[in-house]
Amino acid sequence: MAEKNLDFDQYINRYGTRSIKFDFAKEYGKPEDLIPMWVADMDFKTSSYVVDALKETMDFGVYGYSDGGKAYFEAVKGWMKKRHNWDVEESWLIKTPGIVFAIALAIRAFTNEGDGVLIQTPVYYPFSATIKQNNRKVVRNSLVLNGNHYEIDFDDFEKKIVDNKIKLFVLCSPHNPVGRVWTEDELRKIGEICLKYNVIVVSDEIHFDFVFEGKHKVFATVDERFLPISIICTSPSKTFNLAGLQVSNIFIANPELRDKFTKLLYSTGYCELSLPALVACETAYEKGEEWLEGALSYIKSNTEFLKEYLKENIPAIKPVKQEGLYLIWLDFSGLGFSDAEINKKILEEAKIWFDEGTMFGTEGSGFQRINVACQRSTLEKALKNLKKTFG
Ligand SMILES: Cc1ncc(COP(=O)(O)O)c(C=O)c1O
Repeated sequence: MAEKNLDFDQYINRYGTRSIKFDFAKEYGKPEDLIPMWVADMDFKTSSYVVDALKETMDFGVYGYSDGGKAYFEAVKGWMKKRHNWDVEESWLIKTPGIVFAIALAIRAFTNEGDGVLIQTPVYYPFSATIKQNNRKVVRNSLVLNGNHYEIDFDDFEKKIVDNKIKLFVLCSPHNPVGRVWTEDELRKIGEICLKYNVIVVSDEIHFDFVFEGKHKVFATVDERFLPISIICTSPSKTFNLAGLQVSNIFIANPELRDKFTKLLYSTGYCELSLPALVACETAYEKGEEWLEGALSYIKSNTEFLKEYLKENIPAIKPVKQEGLYLIWLDFSGLGFSDAEINKKILEEAKIWFDEGTMFGTEGSGFQRINVACQRSTLEKALKNLKKTFG
Protein backbone atom coordinates (compact mmCIF):
# COMPACT_ATOMS: atom_id res chain seq x y z
CA MET A 1 0.00 0.00 0.00
CA ALA A 2 1.28 3.46 -0.83
CA GLU A 3 0.84 6.78 0.92
CA LYS A 4 -2.38 8.35 -0.37
CA ASN A 5 -2.40 11.80 1.24
CA LEU A 6 0.29 13.57 -0.72
CA ASP A 7 -1.88 16.10 -2.52
CA PHE A 8 -1.34 19.08 -0.24
CA ASP A 9 -3.05 21.42 -2.70
CA GLN A 10 -6.37 19.68 -2.22
CA TYR A 11 -8.77 22.02 -0.41
CA ILE A 12 -10.17 20.51 2.77
CA ASN A 13 -13.19 22.15 4.28
CA ARG A 14 -12.53 22.16 8.02
CA TYR A 15 -15.65 24.12 8.96
CA GLY A 16 -18.06 22.15 11.12
CA THR A 17 -15.40 19.68 12.27
CA ARG A 18 -15.03 20.93 15.87
CA SER A 19 -11.86 22.76 14.77
CA ILE A 20 -10.78 25.51 17.17
CA LYS A 21 -9.19 27.35 14.26
CA PHE A 22 -12.27 27.30 12.03
CA ASP A 23 -15.38 26.86 14.18
CA PHE A 24 -14.93 29.03 17.25
CA ALA A 25 -14.39 32.59 15.97
CA LYS A 26 -17.50 33.86 17.78
CA GLU A 27 -16.42 32.28 21.07
CA TYR A 28 -13.05 34.01 20.70
CA GLY A 29 -14.76 37.34 20.07
CA LYS A 30 -13.80 37.47 16.39
CA PRO A 31 -15.89 37.98 13.24
CA GLU A 32 -16.89 34.69 11.62
CA ASP A 33 -15.77 35.51 8.06
CA LEU A 34 -12.02 35.55 8.65
CA ILE A 35 -9.35 33.45 6.95
CA PRO A 36 -8.06 31.54 9.98
CA MET A 37 -4.26 31.36 10.04
CA TRP A 38 -3.59 31.35 13.76
CA VAL A 39 -3.74 28.01 15.66
CA ALA A 40 -0.66 25.87 15.01
CA ASP A 41 -2.22 22.93 13.28
CA MET A 42 -2.18 22.10 9.57
CA ASP A 43 -5.00 22.23 7.04
CA PHE A 44 -3.72 18.95 5.54
CA LYS A 45 -4.91 15.40 6.04
CA THR A 46 -2.36 13.39 7.96
CA SER A 47 -0.65 10.32 6.51
CA SER A 48 -3.11 7.85 5.02
CA TYR A 49 -1.37 5.12 7.03
CA VAL A 50 -2.50 6.88 10.20
CA VAL A 51 -6.02 7.38 8.88
CA ASP A 52 -6.28 3.69 7.90
CA ALA A 53 -4.91 2.46 11.22
CA LEU A 54 -7.38 4.66 13.12
CA LYS A 55 -10.25 3.43 10.93
CA GLU A 56 -9.35 -0.17 11.63
CA THR A 57 -9.15 0.51 15.35
CA MET A 58 -12.45 2.39 15.37
CA ASP A 59 -14.22 -0.20 13.20
CA PHE A 60 -13.39 -2.88 15.74
CA GLY A 61 -15.90 -1.28 18.09
CA VAL A 62 -14.40 -2.36 21.41
CA TYR A 63 -12.47 0.48 23.01
CA GLY A 64 -11.36 -1.02 26.30
CA TYR A 65 -8.35 -0.06 28.45
CA SER A 66 -5.29 -0.05 26.25
CA ASP A 67 -1.52 0.31 26.42
CA GLY A 68 1.12 1.01 23.79
CA GLY A 69 3.51 -1.68 25.03
CA LYS A 70 6.79 -2.54 23.35
CA ALA A 71 5.60 -1.78 19.81
CA TYR A 72 4.77 1.80 20.76
CA PHE A 73 8.16 2.35 22.33
CA GLU A 74 9.98 0.79 19.39
CA ALA A 75 8.20 3.15 16.98
CA VAL A 76 9.08 6.21 19.09
CA LYS A 77 12.65 5.01 19.58
CA GLY A 78 13.02 4.42 15.83
CA TRP A 79 11.90 7.96 15.01
CA MET A 80 14.23 9.56 17.56
CA LYS A 81 17.15 7.58 16.15
CA LYS A 82 16.36 8.04 12.47
CA ARG A 83 15.32 11.68 12.44
CA HIS A 84 17.26 13.02 15.43
CA ASN A 85 20.17 10.64 15.91
CA TRP A 86 19.14 10.12 19.53
CA ASP A 87 19.25 6.78 21.32
CA VAL A 88 16.47 6.75 23.88
CA GLU A 89 15.84 4.16 26.56
CA GLU A 90 12.45 2.77 27.41
CA SER A 91 12.72 3.66 31.10
CA TRP A 92 13.09 7.38 30.19
CA LEU A 93 9.76 7.61 28.40
CA ILE A 94 6.69 9.09 30.04
CA LYS A 95 3.61 9.49 27.85
CA THR A 96 1.43 12.52 28.55
CA PRO A 97 -1.66 13.89 26.82
CA GLY A 98 0.21 16.98 25.65
CA ILE A 99 3.33 19.01 26.10
CA VAL A 100 1.80 21.99 27.88
CA PHE A 101 0.46 19.47 30.39
CA ALA A 102 3.99 18.11 30.87
CA ILE A 103 5.43 21.62 31.27
CA ALA A 104 2.82 22.36 33.95
CA LEU A 105 3.78 19.15 35.75
CA ALA A 106 7.47 20.02 35.59
CA ILE A 107 6.77 23.48 36.99
CA ARG A 108 4.89 21.91 39.91
CA ALA A 109 7.38 19.12 40.46
CA PHE A 110 10.57 21.18 40.43
CA THR A 111 9.64 24.62 41.72
CA ASN A 112 7.58 26.05 44.58
CA GLU A 113 4.87 28.67 44.55
CA GLY A 114 6.43 32.12 44.21
CA ASP A 115 9.57 30.80 42.46
CA GLY A 116 10.68 32.29 39.16
CA VAL A 117 10.61 30.19 35.99
CA LEU A 118 12.79 31.36 33.11
CA ILE A 119 11.57 31.66 29.50
CA GLN A 120 12.88 33.39 26.38
CA THR A 121 10.35 35.87 25.08
CA PRO A 122 8.68 36.35 22.68
CA VAL A 123 7.60 32.73 23.09
CA TYR A 124 4.60 30.40 22.72
CA TYR A 125 2.13 32.08 25.08
CA PRO A 126 1.02 29.05 27.14
CA PHE A 127 4.51 29.05 28.69
CA SER A 128 3.87 32.23 30.64
CA ALA A 129 0.19 31.37 31.18
CA THR A 130 1.10 28.00 32.74
CA ILE A 131 3.75 29.56 34.95
CA LYS A 132 1.26 32.15 36.21
CA GLN A 133 -1.60 29.66 36.62
CA ASN A 134 0.67 27.68 38.91
CA ASN A 135 1.46 30.77 41.00
CA ARG A 136 5.06 31.03 39.86
CA LYS A 137 6.77 34.14 38.53
CA VAL A 138 7.58 34.61 34.85
CA VAL A 139 11.24 35.60 34.39
CA ARG A 140 12.09 36.74 30.89
CA ASN A 141 15.33 36.49 28.99
CA SER A 142 14.26 38.61 26.02
CA LEU A 143 15.55 37.43 22.67
CA VAL A 144 17.40 40.09 20.70
CA LEU A 145 16.47 40.88 17.11
CA ASN A 146 19.64 41.41 15.11
CA GLY A 147 18.70 42.35 11.54
CA ASN A 148 16.06 39.76 10.76
CA HIS A 149 17.50 37.10 13.05
CA TYR A 150 16.92 36.55 16.77
CA GLU A 151 19.78 35.88 19.15
CA ILE A 152 20.21 35.03 22.82
CA ASP A 153 21.67 37.55 25.26
CA PHE A 154 23.66 35.06 27.32
CA ASP A 155 24.83 37.62 29.90
CA ASP A 156 21.22 38.48 30.60
CA PHE A 157 20.33 34.75 30.62
CA GLU A 158 22.90 34.10 33.36
CA LYS A 159 22.01 37.24 35.30
CA LYS A 160 18.32 36.34 35.31
CA ILE A 161 19.17 32.88 36.68
CA VAL A 162 21.33 34.32 39.45
CA ASP A 163 19.09 37.26 40.38
CA ASN A 164 15.95 35.15 40.51
CA LYS A 165 17.46 31.93 41.91
CA ILE A 166 16.04 30.08 38.92
CA LYS A 167 15.60 26.31 39.25
CA LEU A 168 13.72 25.69 36.00
CA PHE A 169 14.15 27.00 32.47
CA VAL A 170 11.67 26.25 29.69
CA LEU A 171 13.51 26.17 26.38
CA CYS A 172 11.60 26.31 23.10
CA SER A 173 13.69 24.46 20.49
CA PRO A 174 13.11 25.17 17.63
CA HIS A 175 11.68 28.44 18.83
CA ASN A 176 8.03 29.39 18.37
CA PRO A 177 7.36 32.07 17.14
CA VAL A 178 10.71 33.47 16.02
CA GLY A 179 11.64 30.45 13.90
CA ARG A 180 15.14 29.89 15.22
CA VAL A 181 16.70 26.46 15.05
CA TRP A 182 19.22 26.89 17.86
CA THR A 183 22.77 25.96 16.90
CA GLU A 184 24.77 23.40 18.83
CA ASP A 185 26.95 26.23 20.10
CA GLU A 186 23.97 28.18 21.43
CA LEU A 187 22.56 25.06 23.10
CA ARG A 188 25.94 24.32 24.62
CA LYS A 189 26.14 27.81 26.11
CA ILE A 190 22.64 27.42 27.55
CA GLY A 191 23.53 24.01 28.98
CA GLU A 192 26.79 25.16 30.56
CA ILE A 193 25.07 28.04 32.33
CA CYS A 194 22.24 25.78 33.51
CA LEU A 195 24.72 23.19 34.79
CA LYS A 196 26.66 25.87 36.66
CA TYR A 197 23.57 26.96 38.59
CA ASN A 198 21.76 23.57 38.86
CA VAL A 199 18.93 24.66 36.60
CA ILE A 200 16.67 21.95 35.17
CA VAL A 201 15.95 22.43 31.46
CA VAL A 202 12.51 21.59 30.12
CA SER A 203 13.21 21.49 26.40
CA ASP A 204 10.03 21.75 24.36
CA GLU A 205 11.03 20.25 21.01
CA ILE A 206 7.54 19.86 19.56
CA HIS A 207 8.58 21.59 16.29
CA PHE A 208 11.76 19.51 15.86
CA ASP A 209 10.68 17.87 12.63
CA PHE A 210 10.21 21.22 10.82
CA VAL A 211 13.71 22.38 10.05
CA PHE A 212 14.47 24.21 6.81
CA GLU A 213 17.85 25.71 7.61
CA GLY A 214 20.51 24.53 10.03
CA LYS A 215 20.20 21.32 12.02
CA HIS A 216 18.11 20.57 15.04
CA LYS A 217 20.00 19.07 17.93
CA VAL A 218 18.11 17.50 20.82
CA PHE A 219 19.25 19.48 23.86
CA ALA A 220 20.16 16.38 25.87
CA THR A 221 22.50 15.15 23.13
CA VAL A 222 24.67 18.26 22.94
CA ASP A 223 26.78 17.07 25.87
CA GLU A 224 26.38 13.96 28.02
CA ARG A 225 26.42 16.18 31.10
CA PHE A 226 23.19 17.81 29.89
CA LEU A 227 21.19 14.59 29.88
CA PRO A 228 20.70 14.43 33.68
CA ILE A 229 19.30 17.99 33.81
CA SER A 230 16.99 17.52 30.80
CA ILE A 231 13.29 16.98 30.42
CA ILE A 232 12.87 16.57 26.67
CA CYS A 233 9.33 17.10 25.40
CA THR A 234 8.48 15.58 22.02
CA SER A 235 5.31 14.77 20.19
CA PRO A 236 4.07 13.57 16.82
CA SER A 237 1.25 16.12 17.09
CA LYS A 238 2.80 19.00 15.14
CA THR A 239 4.73 16.69 12.81
CA PHE A 240 1.71 14.67 11.71
CA ASN A 241 -1.15 17.04 12.53
CA LEU A 242 -2.47 14.95 15.42
CA ALA A 243 -3.03 17.68 18.03
CA GLY A 244 -6.65 16.69 18.60
CA LEU A 245 -5.54 13.22 19.68
CA GLN A 246 -3.43 14.53 22.56
CA VAL A 247 -0.23 12.55 22.55
CA SER A 248 3.26 13.47 23.63
CA ASN A 249 6.40 11.60 24.64
CA ILE A 250 8.47 13.07 27.44
CA PHE A 251 11.97 11.77 28.13
CA ILE A 252 13.61 12.08 31.54
CA ALA A 253 16.84 10.09 31.90
CA ASN A 254 17.66 11.20 35.45
CA PRO A 255 15.84 8.71 37.75
CA GLU A 256 15.44 11.25 40.56
CA LEU A 257 13.78 13.82 38.32
CA ARG A 258 11.72 11.14 36.61
CA ASP A 259 10.50 9.75 39.91
CA LYS A 260 9.35 13.17 41.09
CA PHE A 261 7.68 13.90 37.76
CA THR A 262 5.88 10.55 37.47
CA LYS A 263 4.73 10.62 41.12
CA LEU A 264 3.07 13.95 40.44
CA LEU A 265 1.68 12.69 37.13
CA TYR A 266 0.02 9.65 38.70
CA SER A 267 -1.24 11.70 41.64
CA THR A 268 -3.56 13.38 39.13
CA GLY A 269 -5.27 10.03 38.51
CA TYR A 270 -3.94 9.91 34.96
CA CYS A 271 -3.14 6.45 33.70
CA GLU A 272 -2.49 6.04 29.97
CA LEU A 273 -2.95 7.72 26.59
CA SER A 274 -6.18 7.12 24.72
CA LEU A 275 -6.31 4.25 22.24
CA PRO A 276 -6.46 6.53 19.14
CA ALA A 277 -3.47 8.50 20.44
CA LEU A 278 -1.41 5.31 20.84
CA VAL A 279 -2.38 3.98 17.41
CA ALA A 280 -1.78 7.28 15.62
CA CYS A 281 1.63 7.93 17.16
CA GLU A 282 2.90 4.41 16.59
CA THR A 283 1.70 4.34 12.96
CA ALA A 284 2.94 7.84 12.13
CA TYR A 285 6.43 7.13 13.43
CA GLU A 286 6.54 3.77 11.67
CA LYS A 287 5.05 4.66 8.32
CA GLY A 288 4.65 8.42 8.04
CA GLU A 289 8.02 9.53 6.74
CA GLU A 290 7.05 9.88 3.09
CA TRP A 291 4.06 11.99 4.06
CA LEU A 292 6.24 14.22 6.25
CA GLU A 293 8.73 14.78 3.44
CA GLY A 294 5.84 15.84 1.22
CA ALA A 295 4.46 18.19 3.87
CA LEU A 296 7.91 19.71 4.46
CA SER A 297 8.47 20.50 0.81
CA TYR A 298 4.96 21.96 0.47
CA ILE A 299 5.47 24.18 3.52
CA LYS A 300 8.88 25.25 2.23
CA SER A 301 7.40 26.32 -1.08
CA ASN A 302 4.59 28.18 0.72
CA THR A 303 7.21 30.00 2.77
CA GLU A 304 9.17 30.95 -0.34
CA PHE A 305 5.97 32.10 -2.03
CA LEU A 306 5.07 34.28 0.96
CA LYS A 307 8.53 35.84 1.08
CA GLU A 308 8.55 36.62 -2.65
CA TYR A 309 5.01 38.00 -2.57
CA LEU A 310 5.77 40.33 0.32
CA LYS A 311 9.02 41.51 -1.22
CA GLU A 312 7.28 42.40 -4.46
CA ASN A 313 3.98 43.72 -3.19
CA ILE A 314 4.23 44.84 0.45
CA PRO A 315 7.95 45.23 1.21
CA ALA A 316 7.18 47.05 4.45
CA ILE A 317 5.99 43.73 5.94
CA LYS A 318 9.15 41.77 6.61
CA PRO A 319 9.34 38.08 7.48
CA VAL A 320 11.96 37.21 10.05
CA LYS A 321 14.50 34.61 8.90
CA GLN A 322 12.69 31.34 9.35
CA GLU A 323 14.96 28.37 10.03
CA GLY A 324 12.22 26.10 11.29
CA LEU A 325 8.46 25.74 11.90
CA TYR A 326 5.44 26.23 9.67
CA LEU A 327 4.74 29.47 11.53
CA ILE A 328 6.26 32.68 10.24
CA TRP A 329 6.97 35.74 12.32
CA LEU A 330 6.12 38.83 10.32
CA ASP A 331 7.38 42.29 11.17
CA PHE A 332 4.68 44.91 10.49
CA SER A 333 6.47 47.71 12.34
CA GLY A 334 7.74 49.29 9.10
CA LEU A 335 4.16 50.30 8.25
CA GLY A 336 4.15 52.85 11.03
CA PHE A 337 0.92 51.74 12.75
CA SER A 338 0.35 50.96 16.42
CA ASP A 339 -0.35 47.33 17.42
CA ALA A 340 -4.02 48.15 17.92
CA GLU A 341 -4.22 49.69 14.43
CA ILE A 342 -2.47 46.72 12.80
CA ASN A 343 -4.71 44.23 14.60
CA LYS A 344 -7.84 46.13 13.61
CA LYS A 345 -6.82 46.44 9.97
CA ILE A 346 -5.90 42.77 9.71
CA LEU A 347 -9.17 41.64 11.24
CA GLU A 348 -11.59 44.16 9.79
CA GLU A 349 -10.06 45.06 6.42
CA ALA A 350 -7.87 42.12 5.40
CA LYS A 351 -10.26 39.69 7.13
CA ILE A 352 -7.50 37.43 8.34
CA TRP A 353 -6.94 35.90 11.75
CA PHE A 354 -3.26 35.82 12.71
CA ASP A 355 -1.82 35.48 16.19
CA GLU A 356 -1.04 39.01 17.40
CA GLY A 357 2.61 39.48 18.27
CA THR A 358 2.08 40.84 21.76
CA MET A 359 0.41 37.58 22.83
CA PHE A 360 3.92 36.13 22.86
CA GLY A 361 5.26 38.86 25.17
CA THR A 362 5.78 42.59 24.96
CA GLU A 363 8.77 41.87 22.68
CA GLY A 364 6.23 40.80 20.04
CA SER A 365 5.01 44.36 19.53
CA GLY A 366 4.82 45.15 15.80
CA PHE A 367 4.69 41.47 14.82
CA GLN A 368 2.08 38.94 13.73
CA ARG A 369 2.43 35.17 13.44
CA ILE A 370 1.09 33.47 10.33
CA ASN A 371 0.57 29.74 9.84
CA VAL A 372 1.55 28.62 6.33
CA ALA A 373 0.63 24.93 6.73
CA CYS A 374 -2.38 25.57 4.56
CA GLN A 375 -3.33 25.13 0.92
CA ARG A 376 -1.56 27.55 -1.42
CA SER A 377 -4.97 28.88 -2.46
CA THR A 378 -5.64 29.98 1.15
CA LEU A 379 -2.26 31.66 1.39
CA GLU A 380 -2.79 33.47 -1.93
CA LYS A 381 -6.16 34.74 -0.81
CA ALA A 382 -4.76 36.03 2.46
CA LEU A 383 -1.82 37.73 0.76
CA LYS A 384 -4.11 39.44 -1.76
CA ASN A 385 -6.20 40.74 1.12
CA LEU A 386 -3.05 41.99 2.88
CA LYS A 387 -1.96 43.76 -0.31
CA LYS A 388 -5.31 45.50 -0.58
CA THR A 389 -5.04 46.65 3.03
CA PHE A 390 -1.38 47.54 3.32
CA GLY A 391 0.09 47.53 -0.22
C1 LIG B 1 6.17 25.35 21.34
C2 LIG B 1 4.87 24.62 21.53
N1 LIG B 1 4.74 23.80 22.58
C3 LIG B 1 3.59 23.11 22.80
C4 LIG B 1 2.52 23.24 21.94
C5 LIG B 1 1.25 22.51 22.22
O1 LIG B 1 1.51 21.24 22.66
P1 LIG B 1 0.38 20.33 23.24
O2 LIG B 1 -0.82 20.47 22.37
O3 LIG B 1 0.99 18.96 23.17
O4 LIG B 1 0.15 20.76 24.64
C6 LIG B 1 2.62 24.09 20.83
C7 LIG B 1 1.48 24.28 19.93
O5 LIG B 1 1.42 25.18 19.14
C8 LIG B 1 3.83 24.79 20.62
O6 LIG B 1 3.99 25.60 19.58
